[in-house]
Formats: sequence, C-alpha cells, structure tokens
Amino acid sequence: MAIQAPEGTKDLLPDEALFWTHFKAVAARVFGAYGYVPIETPVIEQTELFVRGIGEATDVVSKEMFTSLSGENLKKLLSGGTVKSKSRLSMRPEGTAGVVRAVVQHDLVPQGAAPAKLMYAGQMFRAERPQKGRQRQFNQVGVECLGAEEPTVDAEAIIMLMRFYREIGIPASDTRLLLNSMGCDACRPAYREQVRAYMAEHADELCETCMTRAELNPLRAFDCKNPGCAAVMEGAPKITGHLCDDCREHYETVKALLDGAGVAYAEDAKLVRGLDYYTRTVFEVQVDNGMGSQNAIGGGGRYDKLAEEVGGRPTPGLGFALGYERCVLALQAAGVEFPRAQRCDLFVACVDASVRTAAFSLVQRCRDAGMAADMDHQKRSLKSQFKLADKLGAAHVAVLGPDELAAGQVKLRDMGTHEERLVALEDAVPALLAQG
Ligand code: HAM
Repeated sequence: MAIQAPEGTKDLLPDEALFWTHFKAVAARVFGAYGYVPIETPVIEQTELFVRGIGEATDVVSKEMFTSLSGENLKKLLSGGTVKSKSRLSMRPEGTAGVVRAVVQHDLVPQGAAPAKLMYAGQMFRAERPQKGRQRQFNQVGVECLGAEEPTVDAEAIIMLMRFYREIGIPASDTRLLLNSMGCDACRPAYREQVRAYMAEHADELCETCMTRAELNPLRAFDCKNPGCAAVMEGAPKITGHLCDDCREHYETVKALLDGAGVAYAEDAKLVRGLDYYTRTVFEVQVDNGMGSQNAIGGGGRYDKLAEEVGGRPTPGLGFALGYERCVLALQAAGVEFPRAQRCDLFVACVDASVRTAAFSLVQRCRDAGMAADMDHQKRSLKSQFKLADKLGAAHVAVLGPDELAAGQVKLRDMGTHEERLVALEDAVPALLAQG
C-alpha cells in the first residue's frame, strides 16, 4: 500500500493551503493594527523549556509531547549511555513558551521598555488521540504581549481576537467567550490548598489521574473530562471567591473594558485552561456549530511568572492562540465557501502543434502583463484542451490555429458568455486587460 500521512496529521491541499495563507494574512492585518509584529521561533526546543514553562502536571507535557533525540544521542542512549538535558528536544506543543524563551534570550523587553507585541503562525505538535478537531500536528496563529501587566492589555487582546473571528467570517452569534481569573502567587496557593482538601474529602469519587495530579496541581481536576470528576468538581471551591484585592480589581477592570467595548462574555469559574503558566485572566472561545467535543477555537490568558520560570527577569505577559483547523470547521458549518486556489485569466488552446511556439509566446506576454495564463503541455486534442480550461476555471480561452496565425489573429472566447471574437495577435493582451 502507498505510504499515508501519519495518523493525526493532515495535508493542506491547494484550496486549503491557499485559505491558510489568507487566514495568516487576515491575522497579520488585524493584529498588525494593534501593534503586533511577527516572530518566528524554532519548531524544536529543549524539552526542559516546556517542562518548566507549561508544567509537568499538564496533559500536554506529561503525555503529549513528541520528544526527539538526534541520531548520535539516540545511539548513545540505546547503548546504555546518558544524554545531557540540553540535548533532549521536543517538538513545540504550543507557541508561548518558545516566544517567551526568545524574548528572554534576546532581551526584547529591556527594563523600562514598551511592551513587545509579537505574533506567530505555524505548526504545533501534540501526541493526542486524534478525533474531529483534534490532530497531532495542527496550525495555530498566536500573539504574545510581554512587559505590561495592565488590564488594558488583556481587554485589548480579547477584543482583537473577537474582531479576528468576525473578519475571517465566523458569525459572532456562533461564538461563546468564556472568562475567568486564575489569581496570582498571593491568592492562589491558599485557594489551591482548599481545592486539594476538597478533593481529599471526595477521593473515592475522583479518578486516579486527578488524585495523582492533586499533589502537583489540584486545579487540573477542573479540566478532567471524566463525568464523575466533573460532577464532583462542580461543588469545589471556586477561585472567584478567593481572589486577592489586586487580582479582583484587575479582573473587574478587564470585564468593565469588555463591557465598554460591547464584547459579550460568560464568566466561568471552572475555566482553568490546560497549561500551568496562567495567572489572573484566562479566556477561551467556543463554537458549537459543526464541532464535536473539541469546540475551543481559541484561548489564552495572562502568564506573569513564565519569563522567570524560564530563567528571565520578571516580565508580565499575556497572549492567546487560535486553532486554524477548528476555525475551518466553524467556517464550514457557517456555510462559508473557500476561494479556489486555481486562478486562470486566459488559457491558450492550440489547434495543432504548428502553433505551439506562438501560443507559448502569447502565454508569456500575458504573464508579463500580470495575468494568470496557461496552456497545454501534453499535446492534448482541442476538445480536451477546452476541458482543461474549464477545470482551471479559465475566464477566457484564446484559440490559435494555423489560419489565425497566418492572418496574425487569434480567436478569443469568453467562457462565461461563450461569445467569440477575432483580435489581432498583438492586440490580444491589451484586449484582455481592457475586459478586466
Ligand atoms: P491552547 O488552548 O492549548 O492554548 O491552544 C489554542 C488553540 O489551539 C485551541 O483553542 C484549539 O483551537 C487549538 N488546538 C489545540 N490543540 C489542538 C489539537 N490537538 N488539534 C487541533 N487544534 C488544537 C495554547 O496553545 C496557548 N499557547 C495559548 C496562549 C498564548 N496562551 C497565552 N498565550
């Protein structure tokens, strides 16, 4: 059998690859208007970055990372040797940790500097069980704003995210924005202990994973998909009742700014997100229409401790990422049609082989003039050249035969109206341009 793409990966065939390019261009335009500039970081990073940045207790780090060793190190390990920690590499499961690592490494936010507003787009890798809307290699577009802790940054990013969905064509009525605050180092530890104590009281009703994780981070239990655990966690203490004054004020200001901008949201005290770096604001956008259980089309939040976690100086941050493939599902459910990748303004058809050189030169002249033009390269019959022109969606076909060529003419057929007219060969390009 022919070799297939690995499970959980997906080829973006031309129409979809074109839409991915469009998707990134819309993101660059929308986010660019808010001051975000591009950054590209490696697809592989030291495993340690994700362990320290995202958190050992998360599914992403504990179960889902694709970790690799170079050929030499793999040999060493297999023959019983050890490999230095900096040689252990993982494919990035998300973009935030790598961007924060780059900001720290290149000192992109020197003391007192304006925040760095960075955006990225690319493949992420998680060894999850593939299902609708959940792949092992998927595409994200994300932004990270580092260097400011003001709630205006949080509100601005959320408003910008919702604007992006609108501009790409996901109806606002299909989206649901969930909002929560995760507190900070001052208020979260005490809250975490309360959740741990609550979980201990309900230990016999919770799954083993939740109870093991309770040691490292009990808040992960809010994310457990096990219905029994979800029912127990419904009754657990909620962070909103335990925020310190600073976190409460920060959260209230974010909400007031969103209210002022007319952005609707629902508060969800159980929203803890799947990554451990979050502090204060967290948010997620969900869509039900056309999605399976994987209905989050984007999410993010504040991570004021992450830069320190990866060895940098204290640098508050906030960002989000949106999943391209899930946005496509939401767009398809909303009936949005993707443009065809193939564009053809003119197809030059040859009546016989004697006119191929003249046809080749006409095609070149059209391209020089900025048109998308093509011709047959397989010596097809005239009939099958017309079929090909149709398949390419050609707006016009120029028919060139020995008689036309001898008279210095070409027959132009409008493929929409089927009208035909003879034009001088040297006037064909201006005539087509005039038609638009
Ligand atoms: P995340 O919620 O893990 O956050 O992922 C963001 C989005 O990526 C999800 O809402 C979803 O649309 C998409 N996504 C995640 N996993 C998959 C998958 N296996 N298959 C298809 N799509 C997927 C982050 O990644 C954070 N780095 C966001 C962030 C940026 N927080 C702060 N800054």
